[in-house]
Amino acid sequence: MRRPIIAGNWKANLTLREAAALAQQLTRSCETAAADVVICPPFTALAAVAPLLTGSRIGLGAQDVFWEPAGAFTGEVTPPMLVDLGCRYVIVGHSERRTHFGESDEAVGRKLRAALAHGLAPIVCIGETLAQREAGETMDVLTRQLEGALSGCPPDTCRRLILAYEPVWAIGTGKHATPEQAQEAHQAIRRWVAQHCGPEEGQAVRIQYGGSVTAANAAGLLQQPDVDGALVGGASLKADAFVAIVQAAASVAASTKPKAVV
Ligand code: PGA
Repeated sequence: MRRPIIAGNWKANLTLREAAALAQQLTRSCETAAADVVICPPFTALAAVAPLLTGSRIGLGAQDVFWEPAGAFTGEVTPPMLVDLGCRYVIVGHSERRTHFGESDEAVGRKLRAALAHGLAPIVCIGETLAQREAGETMDVLTRQLEGALSGCPPDTCRRLILAYEPVWAIGTGKHATPEQAQEAHQAIRRWVAQHCGPEEGQAVRIQYGGSVTAANAAGLLQQPDVDGALVGGASLKADAFVAIVQAAASVAASTKPKAVV
């Protein structure tokens, strides 16, 4: 059964004190056995947040990672450093990194392979821009990004990673994809994984939706058969809003039939 997974991407927000306060609020109110919950603070706050999560069910993730294990790469943060801090997850290929920092599909693939090699679970982001959607290129873009990320990975990789479908036009805009648009993309992504990595991998891979997820729209999105969770930006910075999204995932999981048995 695919367990729902809700991840909060705090992006370049929060001082050390603010990050610790938010993490503490979440450990008090975000516990559920029905979904995996992950928070991804900025690098600067990982060491402070990690001990606050000890004994809680909330997993720690980073927002990016470099592909080499160590060396002369000024400014980079490597997989062993993240593991050392207690990270279990890492976001890879977020559209903001692709757009503002020129991250290529090839670089995303290298980061993904490095994360897996060090036992981190990558959350791999893919998604089309508005112009690409309007030009009917959505599936071509997703396919190119999937190929870039997953080429060279052994076929059984997919059950160890999480894919996040994040249409760029929905990120931070308040315009989320409709449940139908999300389901259509998620189904196509799952089909691609099944074709390229095998039917069992297709059934096993968890696919999050990301882009303006809020407490108000989370349930409708999460009810879709191929939507296995959410990657939440803005709404993850407020404990109440994030907790409400986690609760929506837990109640959807309790009220719908299990999403595929592996
Ligand atoms: P948003 O961001 O929820 O603020 O749209 C999502 C993301 O970038 O992961």
